[in-house]
Amino acid sequence: MGSWRDKIRKTEPYIPGEQPKGSNIIKLNTNENPYPPSPKVKEAIESYDANNLRLYPDFVCSSLKSAIAHTYGVNENEIFLGNGSDEVLAFCFMTFFDSDKKVLFPDITYSFYDVWCRLYDIPYERVPLDDGFNIVPEDYFKENGGVVIANPNAPTGIYMELEALEEIIKRNGDSIVIIDEAYIDFGGISAAELIHKYDNLAVVQTFSKSGALAGIRVGYAMANPELIGAMEAVKNSFNSYTLDSLSQTIAEAAARDREYIKDCCGKIIKTREWTVAELKRLGFDTLPSLSNFIFTTNKNIEARDLFKYLREQNIIVRYFDKPRTEKYLRITIGTQKQMEALIEAIRRY
Ligand SMILES: Cc1ncc(COP(=O)(O)O)c(C=O)c1O
Repeated sequence: MGSWRDKIRKTEPYIPGEQPKGSNIIKLNTNENPYPPSPKVKEAIESYDANNLRLYPDFVCSSLKSAIAHTYGVNENEIFLGNGSDEVLAFCFMTFFDSDKKVLFPDITYSFYDVWCRLYDIPYERVPLDDGFNIVPEDYFKENGGVVIANPNAPTGIYMELEALEEIIKRNGDSIVIIDEAYIDFGGISAAELIHKYDNLAVVQTFSKSGALAGIRVGYAMANPELIGAMEAVKNSFNSYTLDSLSQTIAEAAARDREYIKDCCGKIIKTREWTVAELKRLGFDTLPSLSNFIFTTNKNIEARDLFKYLREQNIIVRYFDKPRTEKYLRITIGTQKQMEALIEAIRRY
């Protein structure tokens, strides 16, 4: 037997939520949008010329950048595009965290952050949230190799006000602060405009959640041109064409229809508040969420058992079997009808 096993990279990967097959399943486990993407997306797909596929895509993604730039009042050279915000974040970690100091992020947050640190050999420290699952800004006022904050945080759904976030960015002028805004459109205010005030800030967003486009994988970072240039150099050392041309066309159609995204988010927010109120009547405590999901617990119910029961009822939610989160379920906000079915199932339980 060859000894090649000692020479290959071994890493502990991120485990995505289940993607079950079947139409009778109520899928509330991966924070997808329950509504279809903008009708403009359908038009863009129908009028897409398949002949374009002969050619490599525009690796600068100029039309899509222009649509995003218009939305956020930033310049095209302040935008980096990638294959889902997962890939954009992976490029951020690879580009910005190249010191021997520890990168800081909360102990309870998007579990991909540790995975990228281990993959790229980046030292890191998981900073505990307080007892109410809040990020304590002062905990990030110390020497570090970088900071990553999901705002709103996941899986808690808790949003940090922009002033507190700005303090973290300001106090860390010597390292890069990444704000992961995957869920920002469900009630929060984006930190995007702060990229013109702080050259150490990168704001990352996605079309997967509010844009209802998880299936095409488009995400982006906004930062000053020097940071974007550094990311482009790393990307072009890896794969120049991360974003295919059909995805660019589709994402652009969605980006140019912000009104639709706003309406969709409005419906989800309304259903979220309804769900939280109904759960309260059933004895649940839910963390204050400005996301398209909630993190909820009931002291009289084992979250693990309820998770299994719901699964048997064809309702899939997410359960994180780890200290501090084991008493909670993370539930994506679906359509009003789906959430009524969920509440009914919990009532039966
Ligand atoms: C906090 C957070 N950031 C980033 C992502 C990645 O999203 P995508 O790669 O679909 O853009 C997710 C996905 O669930 C997430 O929860």
